[in-house]
Amino acid sequence: MTFHPGDPVGFVGWRGMVGSVLMQRLEQEGDFADFTPVFFSTSAAGSPAPTFRGAEEPSTLQDAHDLDELALLPVIVTTQGGDYTKAVHGKLRERGWDGLWIDAASTLRQEPDSVIVLDPVNRDVIDRALEAGIRDFIGGNCTVSCLLMGLGGLFRRGLVQWSTAMTYQAASGGGARHMREVLAGFRDVAGTVAQELSDPASAILEVDRKVLAMQRSGELDTTQFEVPLAGSLIPWIDADLGNRQSREEWKADAETNKILGLDGDDRVVMDGLCVRIATMRSHAQALTMKLTEDLSVEEIERIIDEDNEWAHVVPNTKEDTIRDLTPVAASGSLRIPVGRVRKLAMGPEYISAFTVGDQLLWGAAEPVRRMLKIAVGTR
Ligand code: HSE
Repeated sequence: MTFHPGDPVGFVGWRGMVGSVLMQRLEQEGDFADFTPVFFSTSAAGSPAPTFRGAEEPSTLQDAHDLDELALLPVIVTTQGGDYTKAVHGKLRERGWDGLWIDAASTLRQEPDSVIVLDPVNRDVIDRALEAGIRDFIGGNCTVSCLLMGLGGLFRRGLVQWSTAMTYQAASGGGARHMREVLAGFRDVAGTVAQELSDPASAILEVDRKVLAMQRSGELDTTQFEVPLAGSLIPWIDADLGNRQSREEWKADAETNKILGLDGDDRVVMDGLCVRIATMRSHAQALTMKLTEDLSVEEIERIIDEDNEWAHVVPNTKEDTIRDLTPVAASGSLRIPVGRVRKLAMGPEYISAFTVGDQLLWGAAEPVRRMLKIAVGTR
């Protein structure tokens, strides 16, 4: 199917957290002018569809499981989640639907005929795939996308032999309910010591004892994270692969190489530990990298900073770092700060770096939005 300006684009999952951020970005960028949005729902077909700035035409929600309706569309964008992808994508393809499927879920990422989209880093891979008739374009794992947006310059020039990614991942990676749970946890924990906190002379060890007692009491809501996260951390994210590695850790190598289109001896080795911390929506990562060359720190920083308009080097000073290289500083922004770049004691090719990225923007909605622009021919 060839896309013509004003043709329909189907949206599934526009109400969820990633979908809502996607809608915000489409509004901000005036993207609704390029196509006619058709909104689908898994539960409320027939109700009035939403209107967004630039897409104010009243319409009705379509049934997201109606394959006949879906098959009419040249482009479908889904942020509905992996279960929906599993239920619908295969059936649509079996019917011979050859439109573009743009998806934020991980389900199809490692399929041989899908591409993981992050166009500032892999536009060449995307363009070759489109020419070759590939039709499934999938947003990457949030840590991998944020890492490559920050340090893509080093990877794309073949300067990375291997890298660790030790992550500090925000609650939003789990979903909206996870964010609420961690905040409610802070509220309940702080509530047990409200009296003591308002008295600077109260004994801190008594405060600490009460906090810990609350965290261990079983009274905190742990429905989403299974254990309390407020005032703690969880060094495991996603499924247990049974080989001492978590699925989130496995994705770093698998997705980085797929995004970059690297195979065989060209592959970059990536590994690390993924940790959930009690932040809201920005994932941070501490990296140790072995470079293929002994470059000066200035040269490394120049390559990072110049790679794309969003990567931004934070000078490696205390003042700049604590101001600009935190989840609080990075959230709500497309900027990807990269700092703490220095040579490590292990040798001249070993460097450290630290990067933070908004997990809902470059980590989820933005690569999908930009792929949609490519699909409709406006990028
Ligand atoms: N798996 C990620 C996380 C979600 O749990 O933080 C974004 O891909």
